[in-house]
Amino acid sequence: EQIEKGGYEHFMLKEIFEQPNAIKDTYRGRLLANKGIIQMAGIEDNIEKFTNAKRILIVACGTSWHAGLVAEYIIEEFSRIPVEVEYASEFRYRNPIINKDDVVIAISQSGETADTLAAIKLAKENGAFVFGVCNVVGSSISRETHAGAYTHAGPEIGVASTKAFTTQITILTLLALRLAKAKGTMNHSEYQRYLLELEMIPEKVEEALKTDQIAKEIASIYKGATNCLYLGRGYNFPVALEGALKLKEISYIHAEGYPAAEMKHGPIALIDEQMPVIVIAPNKGHYDKVVSNIQEIKSRSGKIIAVVTKGDVQVKELADHVIEIPEANEALTPLLTTIPLQLLSYHIAVMRSCNVDQPRNLAKSVTVE
Ligand code: G6P
Repeated sequence: EQIEKGGYEHFMLKEIFEQPNAIKDTYRGRLLANKGIIQMAGIEDNIEKFTNAKRILIVACGTSWHAGLVAEYIIEEFSRIPVEVEYASEFRYRNPIINKDDVVIAISQSGETADTLAAIKLAKENGAFVFGVCNVVGSSISRETHAGAYTHAGPEIGVASTKAFTTQITILTLLALRLAKAKGTMNHSEYQRYLLELEMIPEKVEEALKTDQIAKEIASIYKGATNCLYLGRGYNFPVALEGALKLKEISYIHAEGYPAAEMKHGPIALIDEQMPVIVIAPNKGHYDKVVSNIQEIKSRSGKIIAVVTKGDVQVKELADHVIEIPEANEALTPLLTTIPLQLLSYHIAVMRSCNVDQPRNLAKSVTVE
């Protein structure tokens, strides 16, 4: 096992650090940035199904569901196809409306999650085209779906998903860009810029991994917390949910993820000097609004840990701690902002002597209801 961990103390840490290569493996042969080409057989063979889709329905569980939420923002923005994201466990039992011209995307690292598998069967029975995004080659979901794309992240052993999440987002970003091209919903220079930037993401993830030390220092300050709040907006709202899930899963600290602007409708009541609030605040999109959210937390004495773009000035003045990630186009920031949150959860869990790779009560793959 020590050999398999490749010198890392835990599989989770190894998998966090594998992300630059895992993302490269995901787009290898599929993203030909200089030529302006995205090619994935599962998409090319069914391109009309996608371009004619009135709606894309995404079904998944856990971290994969969070990747689906990121994809909702990206696919709608790039290709203007309406997207809905559902927990597979809800979808399968609520007699959902499924049309023949719907495309259903099922996301699953293991490809064995019982609820996701059942949602796929239901979608197929109703005539929808079902596309799988799986990591495990030959898994049940990859066999049950009409077509799909593997993430090629390599084996993920840690129960808390890390590289599966970022590689799922990578595939779904490629899909969104391919659809934008097919539908003519993005101008060529913007499309080209995204391709080149996506190709650079592994280097930026490498850079983001350098936050390990600061994440460790922050972990040592907040390891005794009983509650944590994670806030983000837009593309980074799902990252806030995922950050909170990571902390819950492995450190057993109660954590909630929220869209930053929703804070005033509830979580703000929880804020006092005991409450660490992790705010994802890259310099794009709703930056100014997030800054005012941070001011609201500060005026209630909450402790602010902010994930910001390198060179940030405004948030730095307000926050108790800042973690810097490289500059990137807003739609691609989830691939970077996620990294320090994974590291923060990891270090807190280690400092609390938790079983990081196999947290209590959780399974890597949930093959029963
Ligand atoms: C379990 C795992 C999670 C995972 C979820 C969905 O809860 O502990 O890490 O996100 O299942 O799994 P899947 O294999 O379908 O992505």
